[in-house]
Amino acid sequence: MPTMTNSFDAVYRRSIDDPRGFWGAAAAAVHWFTPWDSVLDDSEAPFYRWFAGGETNVCYNAVDRHVENGRGAQAAFIHDSPVTDSQQTVTYADLQARVARFAGVLAAHGVGLGDRVIIYMPMLPEAAVAMLACARIGAIHSVVFGGFAANELAVRIDDAQPKVIVAASCGIEPGRVVEYKPLLDAAIARAEHQPSACIILQRPQARAGLIKGRDFDWREAAAAASDADCVPVAATEPLYILYTSGTTGAPKGVVRDTGGGIVALQWSMPNIYNMAPGEVFWTASDVGWVVGHSYIVYAPLLNGNTSIMFEGKPVGTPDPGVFWRIISEHKVKSLFTAPTAFRAIKKEDPNGEYLKKYDTSCLESLFLAGERTDPDTLRWAQNKLGVPVIDHWWQTETGWAICANCLGIEQLPVKEGSPTKPAPGWRLAALDSAGREVKAGDIGALVAKLPLPPGTFPTLWNARQRYFDSYLKTFPGHYETGDAGYIDADGYVFVMSRTDDVINVAGHRLSTGAIEEVLASHPDVAECAVMGVADALKGELPLGCLVLSAGVERAHADIAAEAVQLVRERIGPVAAFKSAVVVARLPKTRSGKILRGTMKKIADGEAWNMPATIDDPAILDEITAALQTVGYAQE
Ligand code: COA
Ligand code: AMP
Repeated sequence: MPTMTNSFDAVYRRSIDDPRGFWGAAAAAVHWFTPWDSVLDDSEAPFYRWFAGGETNVCYNAVDRHVENGRGAQAAFIHDSPVTDSQQTVTYADLQARVARFAGVLAAHGVGLGDRVIIYMPMLPEAAVAMLACARIGAIHSVVFGGFAANELAVRIDDAQPKVIVAASCGIEPGRVVEYKPLLDAAIARAEHQPSACIILQRPQARAGLIKGRDFDWREAAAAASDADCVPVAATEPLYILYTSGTTGAPKGVVRDTGGGIVALQWSMPNIYNMAPGEVFWTASDVGWVVGHSYIVYAPLLNGNTSIMFEGKPVGTPDPGVFWRIISEHKVKSLFTAPTAFRAIKKEDPNGEYLKKYDTSCLESLFLAGERTDPDTLRWAQNKLGVPVIDHWWQTETGWAICANCLGIEQLPVKEGSPTKPAPGWRLAALDSAGREVKAGDIGALVAKLPLPPGTFPTLWNARQRYFDSYLKTFPGHYETGDAGYIDADGYVFVMSRTDDVINVAGHRLSTGAIEEVLASHPDVAECAVMGVADALKGELPLGCLVLSAGVERAHADIAAEAVQLVRERIGPVAAFKSAVVVARLPKTRSGKILRGTMKKIADGEAWNMPATIDDPAILDEITAALQTVGYAQE
């Protein structure tokens, strides 16, 4: 039972009243080569730096110190891969050896402190080995999700300017092998920046052809290299860059710093997730997303846990019982995934028949994030699993939860549809457009008062001004989350929607603006609008409305199909862009702004009001009729 001094309220209060004392104490849980000069450097506010002057090494904290402390024989990763019908356990000692050697491979290719390395790999232990190897020698990794197409990879290559790219020959999706090497070659051909080397992990499902002089086989390179040791890295140096969707086609390179990053993640494991060293944690996501960076790789290892690395899907690999099999087989204490995964399982196995086949009594909690947990999914998961189901809210930018029910501190009552209260370190408010706090229960822009706690992004890669303009400018003294919602009278936060044109598809964040840029490049398309329409499985799906150039007389269905293909080629299958419809005109305000919100409501079959500023109301009838032809705008 929490006492007065360790109740959630008391811990939260301490974090707000004395952030330096609070996070300074938390930082004692990691090893420092050099102690910091100041816990929080606010000399360049609103740009803040945590643990300035300190030196540490993330890999040392995540791997080596556990081996030194007697955890060498414990599993660091269990790779469970139903798509290849294989399993592999990597102990902390194995991991140390593999990471030290791969760090040596990178060093042999000239990679050192501050150099960038792009990692384009599926869910394999080697992806984590490559990440940790970068951290070991102070290089900055940037993992690119495998579901992105060559063009997206090229954009990231040009922005991050990696010395080396590490890739696997292929990824495995149910029913098909996705060859990564042709995508990588196409991306490098398209990019202006050229890496000096590519290191390729050959998988038996599709071996890649290597380009002599540029491409190197992972295993051969590892056999020829020597080990590299951990180097001290300044706390304020980047650990990684992770690109995420912005409002334009140019993704934002979110930077995670070394010192703040590990202090926050280490702190979160016992306090938010209630995990003790030695226990088994499973995040069913992908290393290509922030959730994977934080909770497949770094946080569980920092805390000395065993982390499950799952290469499969919640359904179809082979059935909707795979989550329960993994929980029972590997004795998972806590599972973290996106609500969409549970919706997929619930759809195929509504009565939980598969659950009955396994003993999942080891599971103590389920954490959900990536999108709002809808009350139906919450209740289903609670009823079926009989454990606390915790919705928590966070973003690529924040690296860890903004709001959570901190199980390791004190379990607070759950309110459906709410990720509970701001986590320690976070001061939230809902503001109106003039920057005034709205009343409890009223919707506003959700913002966090500066400084943000450690572990959050100190900047965007090579884009300090964009960082300021995108996040700090609108509400001075605050970080603008880009989410709208309300805070109730008990201090519970409800995150309702984005305030920008970002949509959330199966827990993945996509920019409708970026999809529009691709559609607009189709030679027959004069104008277009993309919106996120409701989907029972993925939460939202992108839907495109196309206005054709004058004189185009080709079949509309052909153009729509080409548009779908174009998005798949340029952004990738992860965009899940499957529907486009040709319309005569787009509804606009008198000042020419496209009324995407009204179109979305029409598509979703929701009640909508005629916008007062609309240029020509008759267009909405045309739009309704067009959307009905592709199955939307039903009564
Ligand atoms: N490499 C290549 N292609 C990939 C890929 C990868 N790493 N990951 C996904 N894709 C492809 C899929 O094969 C699919 O292609 P398709 O259009 O040919 O079918 C497309 O990208 C969309 O993938 P996905 O969103 O995974 O949809 P799905 O229909 O295959 O599966 C769910 C639906 C709900 C089962 C799936 O989205 C899921 O497991 N989600 C979990 C949520 C999650 O991990 N969120 C991360 C943030 S926490
Ligand atoms: P990403 O940066 O890809 O993790 O996406 C972050 C965005 O996903 C947030 O800004 C929210 O819009 C949404 N999101 C993530 N978790 C939640 C949650 N628990 N509740 C509501 N929205 C969420």
